[in-house]
Amino acid sequence: MAANKKLLFLPGDGIGPEVMGEVRNVIDWMAKNRTVSFDVTEGLVGGACYEAHTCAITDETMADAMNVDAVLLGAVGGPQWDNVERHHRPEAGLLRLRKDLELFANLRPATVFDALAEASSLKTDLVQGLDILILRELTGGVYFGQPRGIETLDDGSERGVDTQVYTTPEIDRICRVAFELARKRQNRVCSVEKANVMETGVLWRRVATATHQDGYEDVELSHMYADNCAMQLVRAPKQFDVIVTDNLFGDILSDCAAMLTGSLGMLPSASLGAEDESGRRRAMYEPVHGSAPDIAGEGKANPLATILSYAMCLRYSFDMGDDADLIEQAAQNVLSRGLRTLDIMQDGMTAVSTADMGKALTEELDKLV
Ligand code: IPM
Ligand code: MG
Repeated sequence: MAANKKLLFLPGDGIGPEVMGEVRNVIDWMAKNRTVSFDVTEGLVGGACYEAHTCAITDETMADAMNVDAVLLGAVGGPQWDNVERHHRPEAGLLRLRKDLELFANLRPATVFDALAEASSLKTDLVQGLDILILRELTGGVYFGQPRGIETLDDGSERGVDTQVYTTPEIDRICRVAFELARKRQNRVCSVEKANVMETGVLWRRVATATHQDGYEDVELSHMYADNCAMQLVRAPKQFDVIVTDNLFGDILSDCAAMLTGSLGMLPSASLGAEDESGRRRAMYEPVHGSAPDIAGEGKANPLATILSYAMCLRYSFDMGDDADLIEQAAQNVLSRGLRTLDIMQDGMTAVSTADMGKALTEELDKLV
């Protein structure tokens, strides 16, 4: 019998533990109804880890993360850690996971669920049926470039430095992922940078073009400046299929794309590494929303983004597309039934708690099998 699939749960801070609890229920449901079981271990990350170990993630947890098939993360951060030194802040745990696991490809789908199209701040017809994928480079660029730091100058003033840096292989590998993903979608990639003002942008455009010519000519490739892309995302978002871009632009544009859907609480993400000889990729899955400290512990959080992140995990780490489809369909169905957590509440709908939403989802799963 094949070894059990190994998952590491890192619930983190704020609403993280609550929403991850609902994933446990889906896993239990799968063990019962789909006879797939997962070995789930749990660890600390972010502020929760800082409280216990005065760091954002321990070496032991990092070692665990290296050894599992996939990591599922809730959320990190909260105002109580605002004054902690930057390398111990909750976000540092997340950045270390991304960097040390070499999760260079961050998939951030922005899909509009039919039942929620009206919740978007954009006109319904602009977003109805929207299905775009932002592919963000996650381990390079200005987030990690050296030199960086704040120094004091002779006159007593300070100077802050960050370095935006990309190499050919870093750009090439993320573009390959973009083309591969596009082939399973609408076959279009828009590569986004600032080649008009940045050297890394010039190189990015050059490498994207060269990689495209190296076996991906069947995919349609276009280029766009990042500022224009931000504008186009709110003007006519359906023009995009896959957007591939660097770490910083991807951070910003994915938040913008997320808002188009009207429901940050619905959006999953996947961060993938390179394939090893056996075809296995290191991977981490997390909801796009943050730790929402203002509603933590109150049973108000929407667990669907985290449950949908688990669906992405089934699809990308375990090649279980059918089960992923099932969970995504169940999510559609609970929304069609009119159930809403606070973040997506609309007139005439039924407000439910985190646990009720999770329970309704497994009920829908029961109906689907
Ligand atoms: C994200 C977040 C992180 C980032 C923070 C929490 C470090 O904004 O995942 O988009 O900037 O990458
Ligand atoms: Mg962000």
